[in-house]
Amino acid sequence: MEPELRIFTQPEIMADSLAEEFYRYVNHQFLTKNTLYIALSGGQTPLFFFKNLSDFDQQKKNKVDWKRIHFFWGDERCVPPSHDESNFGSAHNVLFSKINIPEGNIHRIEAENDPAGEVERYSQLMLQLVPSVGGVPVFDWIFLGVGEDGHTASIFPDQIEAITSTKLCKVTTHPETKQKRITLTGTVINMARRITFMATGTEKQEIVRQIINNEPAAKKIPAGRIIPKNGKIDWYLDSKAAELI
Ligand code: 6PG
Repeated sequence: MEPELRIFTQPEIMADSLAEEFYRYVNHQFLTKNTLYIALSGGQTPLFFFKNLSDFDQQKKNKVDWKRIHFFWGDERCVPPSHDESNFGSAHNVLFSKINIPEGNIHRIEAENDPAGEVERYSQLMLQLVPSVGGVPVFDWIFLGVGEDGHTASIFPDQIEAITSTKLCKVTTHPETKQKRITLTGTVINMARRITFMATGTEKQEIVRQIINNEPAAKKIPAGRIIPKNGKIDWYLDSKAAELI
């Protein structure tokens, strides 16, 4: 299925539109599903989006029954949740600390613990909570970012085997900082019913062009290997990131 592109003049407008889409889509899904399972991305790009979700909720501009959503993460840095690089920590500060959601619905990756042990724990947790097909959890929505090198979640080009791994989660290493990460594998990501990439800024335009234009180089990078098996995929971009498409 070809990716659907949504391009906006400014990152703030992209994030506002994605927050509107979140409310629309989630409430539409609730017509046929009691509970939704969503995995969030890390990094800086989604923070505007998360802030809009909490602002909309506080302004009562849109309503979501948060207790019907279970949140997971696509990846986490191997740091404590209080660390300023923690993906959970960022989302908690901007979103989860501001909305009325049961703590039991928030499933952070406890990446400050032994990484190999946490991979097992998180894999089992997903299998216990998220409806699965063939032993693979099927998320309703997975949000992703993309690095300038084409990584997504914490699957890096030099560890691209994590795209097709039979595992649900893996320990990876950031190629430059050597920081340990825990990431969902492409096996889980590609089973999601909906995958949404967010990318903004001039620094992403080259990698976005390779992926969206399906250039040969895209097959060598993890974000280019995110191809939903049965689901849909869309990209929320600002005009700078989309400039070369
Ligand atoms: C992470 C992310 C990673 C991120 C990209 C883009 O933990 O860093 O999950 O995949 O989405 O690196 O990051 P920015 O949004 O900060 O550009």
